[in-house]
Amino acid sequence: MQSILGIETSCDETGVAIYRPGDGIVADLVYTQADHAAYGGVVPELASRDHVRKLPGMIGEALDQAGLRPRDLDAVAYTAGPGLAGALLVGAATAVAFASALGRPAIAVHHMEGHLLSPLLDADAGLDFPFVALLVSGGHSMLVEVGRVGDYRLLGETLDDAAGEAFDKTARLLGLGFPGGPEVARLAEQGDDRRFDFPRPMVNRPGLDFSFSGLKTHTRLLVGRVGVDDYADVAAGFERAVVETLVIKCRRALKQTRLERLVIAGGVSANQRLRSALDAALPDRVYYPPAKLCTDNGAMIAHAGWFRRLEGRNDGQIAVRPRWPLTELKRPA
Ligand code: KG4
Ligand code: ZN
Repeated sequence: MQSILGIETSCDETGVAIYRPGDGIVADLVYTQADHAAYGGVVPELASRDHVRKLPGMIGEALDQAGLRPRDLDAVAYTAGPGLAGALLVGAATAVAFASALGRPAIAVHHMEGHLLSPLLDADAGLDFPFVALLVSGGHSMLVEVGRVGDYRLLGETLDDAAGEAFDKTARLLGLGFPGGPEVARLAEQGDDRRFDFPRPMVNRPGLDFSFSGLKTHTRLLVGRVGVDDYADVAAGFERAVVETLVIKCRRALKQTRLERLVIAGGVSANQRLRSALDAALPDRVYYPPAKLCTDNGAMIAHAGWFRRLEGRNDGQIAVRPRWPLTELKRPA
């Protein structure tokens, strides 16, 4: 039975998992670094150091969880980009060293490809190619037409902030913690989402690009003139504006490509209101990764690495690409 280890260290989550085709994920560990909260955002140097501290122990733990020895592994996949350079280097150096000690291939995985393919991990969901993918995370917001593994056509992307970044910045304006997405969502539950009128950026223009920085500015202006008691209504109005904007663009992307299926991945895909709104707008056409695979994790890297392993890849040197366009990826030969 073949097994592949996946290592994710692109930002502030240390993820280690083992994937076995046929069995699925047989070990899955995620450590979320807590130190950044005090700074309101991820501090790159702290992130790198924490990955160094955690990663070796987590690899041993993942092997124990799966009941495997190191030599049972067939390959080691790691996130090579995009992400924070120092953080990526920790994962890459560890993966390449471990793989070469075992005499196995090391496979460089694109972080967003990991997110994009993660809904396929749920065999019961019945997802198949082709589909449109909405990738919404802390660093990216894009719509991609996916023909098959490695066949990615960019349909639209954000011109400024990513959707997750807008949540994080809004959270900061509202005095909430980091990461902001879940905190804004929690506060929004107690608010009235129709009290404040937020813009729906770029929906009246043709095309599939996004812009979220105006929403953040709108929040800043609102926060300046309301009281703390009104913050739940601000959070609810903001969340509704993001969700409605994303739903409009997703419908438009499906119409334009004439595709049936929509996949949502990346941290913001954990948002419950987004899920409900998409399910209502596009019944039986929307696929999500299992909840714990929405935010960064090693499982999606092991899984995407597996597809790349099939093409016989071996990225034996430590090479990271902090900026790596998804559209540069190729279909496996
Ligand atoms: O994919 P991810 O874990 O890391 C990146 O690759 O960026 O995404 C993290 C982002 C953060 O901006 C976080 O605030 C957002 O995803 N996020 C959410 C929710 N959970 C995480 N945004 C909205 N609602 C959520 N429930
Ligand atoms: Zn991510």
